[in-house]
Amino acid sequence: MDHAALLPEASQSAHHIDVLFFSLTAASTAIVILVAGLIIGFSVHYRRGSKADRSALPKLLRREFETGWTLATLLAFLALFGWAAAQDFSLQRQPSDPMEVHVVAKQWMWKVQHEGGQREIDALHVPLDRPVRLVMNSQDVIHSFFVPAFRIKQDVVPGTTERLVFRAVETGTFRLMCAEYCGTRHSAMTGKIVVMKPEDYAAWLAEQPEGDALAERGEGLYTTLGCSGCHAQTGTIRAPDLRGVYGNPVPLSDGRIVTADDEYLRDSILEPRRDVVAGFQPIMPSFAGKVSEGDIVALLAWLRTNGDEGEQP
Ligand code: CUA
Repeated sequence: MDHAALLPEASQSAHHIDVLFFSLTAASTAIVILVAGLIIGFSVHYRRGSKADRSALPKLLRREFETGWTLATLLAFLALFGWAAAQDFSLQRQPSDPMEVHVVAKQWMWKVQHEGGQREIDALHVPLDRPVRLVMNSQDVIHSFFVPAFRIKQDVVPGTTERLVFRAVETGTFRLMCAEYCGTRHSAMTGKIVVMKPEDYAAWLAEQPEGDALAERGEGLYTTLGCSGCHAQTGTIRAPDLRGVYGNPVPLSDGRIVTADDEYLRDSILEPRRDVVAGFQPIMPSFAGKVSEGDIVALLAWLRTNGDEGEQP
């Protein structure tokens, strides 16, 4: 760990971000000192009554000075911009086999659901050195998932799905905060990230109460919410068969073809009349307000596995 750091650098990207941050601060400080020094120096040198040479510089020299310092600062800051942009892109890079965790933000808590069905509130346990992808939704207003020790922050905007990737490189407990004012108890919307050695993490997972796996809960909702009444292909009302739909192209009534990804399926639950599947009537009611974000996460998890089952006889 770098002792220049004010906080632990507990994720793989933290150190790179610190180097960038301190370099930007150093560059800005150097420029402040240079400009302030010149102002003070010139003020003293050319004060009223001083014997300083006030004749104009030769024209050619003036142009070289002007071009020189303009280009130098421009290039220096473009280089900083390029560096920061490269950092940002590397943060967005998706790992090949991440552990996926669903996070629902709501006034005023963080609800966490693991793929195996374990749930947590205002806490997230992760294993050391394993890439984690958070899939985040908000149930009400804009929140922001902020872990200072990981140097990660992601706004969670209602109606969208945000993804955030990190890999913890230090064990311990780190603070989670909401970094977007979201109402009266915004400042209390905090939690902890617990990074554990893989064997401790496995032990922790095993200790958690047996919740239904996400996909199982989704399957239950599919029935209790009444989705199966139309989509199960047994009733009189025709609705698209959902088996195997996940990840596949869907032709729409307006001629477009979209992919049935998380975003499309979410929108179809909340705003079913926007993108109607070709050959079907726009008769499905909206489930906005009837399903929680946690329910949607479970339904999507089930649709994802149902895609595999759909191919078996
Ligand atoms: Cu949630 Cu501030």
